[in-house]
Amino acid sequence: MFRRSAIVLTPLLLAALPWAAPAAELADAPCYECHDELQEEFSKGSPHSPVEEGDCEACHEDHGDAETLMLSDKVPTLCFGCHDEFAKAQVHDPVGEGDCLGCHDPHHSTRSALLRDAVPALCYECHDDYSQGVSVHEPVGEGSCTECHDPHQSEHEGLLTGRYERKLRVTFSADAYELCLECHDLEAFNDPVTENATAFRFGARNLHYVHLIDETDDKGYGIKKRRKPRISCSGCHLPHTSDQAKLIRPERDRGQVTVFTISYRQTADGGGCVVGCHKPLQYVRDAATGRDKPAHLSAPKQSKGPEL
Ligand code: HEC
Ligand code: HEC
Ligand code: HEC
Ligand code: HEC
Ligand code: HEC
Ligand code: HEC
Ligand code: HEC
Ligand code: HEC
Repeated sequence: MFRRSAIVLTPLLLAALPWAAPAAELADAPCYECHDELQEEFSKGSPHSPVEEGDCEACHEDHGDAETLMLSDKVPTLCFGCHDEFAKAQVHDPVGEGDCLGCHDPHHSTRSALLRDAVPALCYECHDDYSQGVSVHEPVGEGSCTECHDPHQSEHEGLLTGRYERKLRVTFSADAYELCLECHDLEAFNDPVTENATAFRFGARNLHYVHLIDETDDKGYGIKKRRKPRISCSGCHLPHTSDQAKLIRPERDRGQVTVFTISYRQTADGGGCVVGCHKPLQYVRDAATGRDKPAHLSAPKQSKGPEL
């Protein structure tokens, strides 16, 4: 009994010891007779499956024209010999251009998915760095770009992994904001009255609900007629970072034209907004009722926004 469990445990223990970290086992290939340094090189990290099997000729011709690296086909055709082509409605620019090798090493890598660099550093080689700002969305700060973006292709605009309606006015549904609701609870938006589902509330009056869903006119707030459909998430929030708290966007543009600006201020028990859409308003979470007349903020005049 003792011997048997010792045999079972030994490989596990070995794998756990840092000095025993194994190099990948690569099958022999005739090519290593002369390119012996490559066998050691390719065993670092995780090898591409055909490399592990010693099948160099899956991609290279036997020696001939060294100029062309003797590839049996051009990238990306070579890759599509074994992998599905990327043919969804939205294809990432470098993928569409066949630049697989911009992101992947064909042989091996010490990172997952044969990547040349880790995400997000890989993405920041070509895109703005989204890790700075007054507020940074947690998954963005953690570099989890692929939680929301597919690196190759998507059915959704912006290579998004789920639907996210970005127009200013959208009829609310869980489906329209599928992406956000993968991580955020629906109650924060569709419960008209809540004590805790969201911090964006006046007393128990859910202000997410008011902006996203509620169509009833509200003269108490100076709103004669509510426009339909209601405001979308992207009317107020940016997805990555913002120079204001809570990812509140400073402005909404259409091309070069600023449609409206939002100046947002947090307070200990709420916040306040100076925006073109309505007169400056402030919300107080511990107010006895959400029907209190909101306090007014004094602030400079903002650009005119869409009517609520
Ligand atoms: C008889 C020895 C020998 C064998 C076997 C051999 N090669 Fe080579 N290979 C060379 C030499 C010599 C060069 C040119 C010098 C260099 O770049 O290392 C070369 C160059 C190359 C190059 C171009 C390298 C570059 O950086 O431009 C590739 C790719 C290559 N070999 C792949 C292969 C593959 C794949 C195999 C197996 C199918 C193979 N070789 C088998 C000797 C060999
Ligand atoms: C999945 C396809 C694929 C397989 C399998 C493959 N290679 Fe390559 N290899 C490539 C591509 C693509 C390049 C060009 C890389 C570049 O341009 O950055 C390349 C480049 C090379 C080069 C030249 C430059 C370099 O990266 O060192 C050598 C030498 C080479 N391969 C040897 C081998 C050997 C030996 C094997 C088998 C153990 C092998 N390859 C298996 C796709 C492959
Ligand atoms: C000869 C067949 C073959 C060719 C050609 C080929 N691959 Fe692969 N590739 C595989 C197999 C098999 C796997 C492992 C199974 C899987 O994940 O689909 C794999 C896995 C991968 C992975 C995932 C690796 C991981 O650790 O998760 C990437 C990335 C990849 N290939 C990229 C490429 C690129 C880029 C090319 C072209 C330069 C290419 N492949 C060409 C057979 C191939
Ligand atoms: C902009 C960078 C980038 C480019 C260009 C790119 N890939 Fe990828 N690829 C990735 C990332 C990142 C992953 C890892 C995805 C993950 O972890 O969810 C990946 C994963 C893969 C995988 C593993 C299975 C999967 O889909 O997750 C394969 C196979 C693959 N890529 C093939 C290719 C081929 C073939 C090309 C060229 C047509 C290509 N890639 C171009 C970034 C890229
Ligand atoms: C080799 C350069 C390169 C790399 C690396 C790269 N991208 Fe891109 N990406 C582009 C280009 C070019 C465009 C199209 C022009 C633009 O929108 O900036 C683009 C567009 C995008 C878009 C917008 C797509 C749209 O339809 O609006 C997203 C999202 C994106 N990339 C995410 C990523 C992520 C995530 C990574 C890392 C996994 C990454 N990119 C790595 C070059 C790159
Ligand atoms: C929480 C989800 C989420 C995460 C995580 C995320 N993005 Fe995005 N990204 C979006 C959304 C939503 C859009 C569409 C923006 C819009 O137009 O409102 C977008 C758009 C983009 C664009 C198109 C240009 C732009 O700024 O609108 C690029 C490029 C991009 N993201 C790159 C990245 C990179 C790189 C990372 C990782 C550091 C990342 N994203 C992480 C949700 C996300
Ligand atoms: C991959 C998971 C994930 C996705 C997808 C996601 N979020 Fe988040 N988001 C988080 C986490 C984690 C936090 C931090 C904890 C919290 O406040 O709930 C956060 C916080 C926020 C905050 C508060 C930011 C702050 O500074 O306190 C806003 C606003 C936000 N998310 C909006 C969105 C929107 C809009 C979408 C859809 C485009 C979205 N999120 C999609 C994970 C996600
Ligand atoms: C009218 C502007 C507005 C709209 C529209 C809006 N939000 Fe918010 N959101 C806010 C404000 C303001 C806060 C900050 C509340 C606080 O902390 O005082 C907030 C906070 C959040 C938070 C942090 C957790 C919480 O609920 O307090 C998340 C997550 C979030 N919003 C996601 C979304 C998503 C997803 C949508 C679309 C379904 C959306 N928001 C629509 C203004 C808006």
